[in-house]
Amino acid sequence: MSVRKDSVELGECVRNPGFQDADGDAPAADTVSAAESEEKRDSIGVKRDSIGVKLDPDDEYNQVKPYAGMPKEVLLLYSSQARYRVPREILFWLTVCCTLALVAITITVIALSPRCLSWWQASPVYQVYPRSFKDSDGDGVGDLKGIMEKLDHFQYLNIKSVWISPFYRSPMKDFGYDVEDFRDVDPLFGTMQDFEELLTEMHNRGLKLIMDFIPNHTSDRHRWFNLSRIRDPYYEDFYVWTDCDPNGPKPNNWVSIFGNSSWTYDEVRGQCYLHQFLKEQPDLNFRNPNVVQEMIDIVDFWLKKGVDGFRMDAVKHMLEAAHLRDEPQVDPNKPPELVTTEWDLHSDYTTSQVGLHDLLREFRAVLDTYSREPDKYRFMVTESYDYEEVDKTMMYYSTHLVRESDFPFNFYLLDLPHNASGVWAKHLVHIWMGNMPRGEWPNWVVGNHDRSRIASSAGPAYIRVINMLLLTLPGTPTTYYGEEIGMENINVTQSEIQDPAGKYNTSASRDPERSPMQWSGDMNAGFNNKTNVTWLPVHPDYETVNVEVQKKDDGSVLAQYRFLSNLRVTELALHRGWFCYIHADANVFSYLRELDGLSQAYLMVLNFGKQSAITDLSSVSELPDRLTVLMSTNHVNNGKVYEKSRILTEAGEGLVIQYSTDTRFNPTHPEECYVSEKACFLPTINILYKC
Ligand code: GLC
Ligand code: MG
Repeated sequence: MSVRKDSVELGECVRNPGFQDADGDAPAADTVSAAESEEKRDSIGVKRDSIGVKLDPDDEYNQVKPYAGMPKEVLLLYSSQARYRVPREILFWLTVCCTLALVAITITVIALSPRCLSWWQASPVYQVYPRSFKDSDGDGVGDLKGIMEKLDHFQYLNIKSVWISPFYRSPMKDFGYDVEDFRDVDPLFGTMQDFEELLTEMHNRGLKLIMDFIPNHTSDRHRWFNLSRIRDPYYEDFYVWTDCDPNGPKPNNWVSIFGNSSWTYDEVRGQCYLHQFLKEQPDLNFRNPNVVQEMIDIVDFWLKKGVDGFRMDAVKHMLEAAHLRDEPQVDPNKPPELVTTEWDLHSDYTTSQVGLHDLLREFRAVLDTYSREPDKYRFMVTESYDYEEVDKTMMYYSTHLVRESDFPFNFYLLDLPHNASGVWAKHLVHIWMGNMPRGEWPNWVVGNHDRSRIASSAGPAYIRVINMLLLTLPGTPTTYYGEEIGMENINVTQSEIQDPAGKYNTSASRDPERSPMQWSGDMNAGFNNKTNVTWLPVHPDYETVNVEVQKKDDGSVLAQYRFLSNLRVTELALHRGWFCYIHADANVFSYLRELDGLSQAYLMVLNFGKQSAITDLSSVSELPDRLTVLMSTNHVNNGKVYEKSRILTEAGEGLVIQYSTDTRFNPTHPEECYVSEKACFLPTINILYKC
């Protein structure tokens, strides 16, 4: 048996023999006598003789001393004296007051702090069309490893959010928008491992990856469709089937977005199936809850892998009217056999059906469960072209109570080239600002893989001013790859047409805006430096219009894009300030960005017209008389000073004017101004607060 120091029972200080020894006094009433103590030690087996260890009384004293203390009575005696009690009470109340003050300050700070901008608000979204971005293996088609090689480009431009168009396994009838397996990567683009490596590397660099998700349809090669054709009981109703005669009339007059009837007869099943796009893209039947669940599981699959958000493709087509009645013709007198395009019909039964938003909210709920971890917000943007029915588009925004899209894509600026003028630019901007629900976050698109490049439709002279508009409006800009260097459409001859939409109708071909990214003046513009193949021709202007050349030129489209993209981040007025209309005429559209409490503000004067213009803003008393150009799209004009009554812009020139003011424009012009979430700046302590 060994002796342990703590084997002596020291539960209460009054039983502490050391204390008694030290004091030499008689123990207090409730103390245990030395004899009892001895007895106790004996009873627990500390018998000096029997264990053969002779403890010196001094040693014993030293061993127990650290546990010594005052008896309760002595303590109480001292503690009730005023010299102890008063400071103690003061300290107590001080602690209470400090705690309350801290709680109050915390609540006030939380209540007064404006919401932090999330990642999808803080940076432009950059769209990568993976076939055309960078080809790493030399097969002529871009791939995921190629994107990995070019991540520096996003960082160079201060871009944090990258949307990559589909790279799922696909027969490529619609270049990936016809998905054969939603859980696999097409070998043309790489492997799942390439994807995972890309995502990890993007996250390491602080970049977010937005995937394309295509809920409306699958490829006709999808396993579900094959099982549906043979009427497998679970998959039988996964698509929209109806009886029809193989040689007779179609079930109704509905037409595909790519032209002609949206019904195709299937020999195997002996029925017609619906396809709002290609016949190789059968529409899923979202009235079947199993379809909804399967699609939700796919979203979950990618969220688990860590993707940061989804661009939801062609959402308005997800549901169709179950009654399958003919849609009303736009021109009732047109012979029905000539009704072959979406423009011939009011798409009342094939788009925006009741129940659509419930479906999207279900998807949103899945994203939200993954958004809970800090800095893991999952983003959702919907694609729906509603043209003049802007109300329909606005329905995709979340509200305070019901979560849906963070924003629906705003395609109205794609229309800018149709009528190049300041008034038109303002009109298009106002379609969004005037209809967006209060407090929502705007966004702007000037190009994508379905629409002509803006440098071609507006003319190369206007690309800079359009980029300036995009990057200085409030909200999130989206940039289609190549717009940052002013890439133009390519000419595609009839025999070169790749796009199925172009095969139906040459003028609808989307190939011109999908040509390889122009990285350098090297072979294939640096897109593929291994072999001499590219899936579409490289634009002949690549020797001058490319990233490498433009990086060396301070006045290039790229340098200006980069300057403005940085300015958006550093300038509070630009990323969360007021947006106010100042002026619009046949040439010029002018607006300002300001933040209450901040003296530095920005005035934009953009000339979208065909002529140079002198803009007189002398009636805007909030502007200083003399205005200095911070940046002009014509860089020789940087630093120029204009009288506010005579601001000169050439056709296609845009000016960013930085000025200082003590009087804000928005308080006196509420009708002209918008802000998503009002915030004010307190210069004395450099903070933003809700106001
Ligand atoms: C979207 C895509 C387009 C595709 C279509 C069908 O509109 O942007 O490229 O062809 O959906 O998926
Ligand atoms: Mg559909």
